[in-house]
Amino acid sequence: MTVAHEDPGRAALHLARAASFAPSPHNSQPWFFVEEGHDQGFEVHADTKRRMPLTDPNGREMVIACGAALLNVRIAVRRLGFQPVVDILPEPAEQGFLARVGFGAHVAATVEEELLARTVRQRHTHRGPFGPEAVPEGLLSDLRDQARAEGATLQVLDGSEKVRLLARLVNSAERADRVDLWRAEELAHRVGPDGVPVEVCRAHPDLTLLAGRDYLGLSRRRTVPEHSRGAGTGIVAVLCTPYDHRADWLLAGQALQRVLLYAAGHGVMAGFHTQPLERPHLREELRREVTAGRHPQMVLRLGRPPQIRSTRRRPVSEVLTRGPVPFRQ
Ligand SMILES: Cc1cc2nc3c(=O)[nH]c(=O)nc-3n(C[C@H](O)[C@H](O)[C@H](O)COP(=O)(O)O)c2cc1C
Repeated sequence: MTVAHEDPGRAALHLARAASFAPSPHNSQPWFFVEEGHDQGFEVHADTKRRMPLTDPNGREMVIACGAALLNVRIAVRRLGFQPVVDILPEPAEQGFLARVGFGAHVAATVEEELLARTVRQRHTHRGPFGPEAVPEGLLSDLRDQARAEGATLQVLDGSEKVRLLARLVNSAERADRVDLWRAEELAHRVGPDGVPVEVCRAHPDLTLLAGRDYLGLSRRRTVPEHSRGAGTGIVAVLCTPYDHRADWLLAGQALQRVLLYAAGHGVMAGFHTQPLERPHLREELRREVTAGRHPQMVLRLGRPPQIRSTRRRPVSEVLTRGPVPFRQ
């Protein structure tokens, strides 16, 4: 006898909710999920219609965001007490089909996995200066291990010379973005209740050593003198991968999210400064001069935020479908 199920399975809902809390470029949420059978498997797809065409022409950042969502799915499966069985890029002809996750052996989640699962909802992006409390060296070492466990490298920039060099690349990309009318318009479209809410980007973007995105055009109204920039920059780091293909972007997203969740579990949040990675010549310079030839995937600052602000997600009914997939690209 076959039983017809109209509603998604409980596990699929749990996984889709967890996946949706992942970070994405300007909260574009470029993903959708498919429940296979009734809680038999779970697919992660890129929703290429939500890619930002000017800043992300080849979809690298879109896939990183989906990789972060995939890590959340893996952690959510662990919380249910199963080992996730992950098949990466299962249908090579379908570029947007990024991963299939099945339910493997029943094994209780570890203490560390429980910690990561609890922080899925607590992690948020921070913009502007961090508070004065330092990030301990022991935690940085753990964060490097978290990235390494996924096959990526978290390069923490400890010398001020490398930080200055990276800041020059970020600030140069950000200056170019601010006078590029098309890119500025693409960014402005992402501001609002369905993208990056106005409340989370009220800090002036030029207060720290690495310029932030000027979501609200604040730099046109007030400039911050060079000598008063820098306090609260926090720890500067670059997440890199040995290669730079689609599978590496997916790997980078999982490593990123694992680092972010572990950090959030210890009261540390991240701010992102990916502007130079969106301009090929600056990304190449960064790779040569800062990351010793490894491919830079994310530029981030880490620190303890003075306040935490959350950003809304689309309802799960908009991102979860049941097979067969109605809108595969
Ligand atoms: C690939 C990628 C690039 C991002 N680049 C930036 C950035 O340059 N500036 C920024 O403020 N946030 C950046 N973000 C963070 C998103 O804006 C943030 O994840 C999204 O608004 C959702 O908010 P939340 O992380 O607080 O949940 C980036 C996120 C990803 C995954």
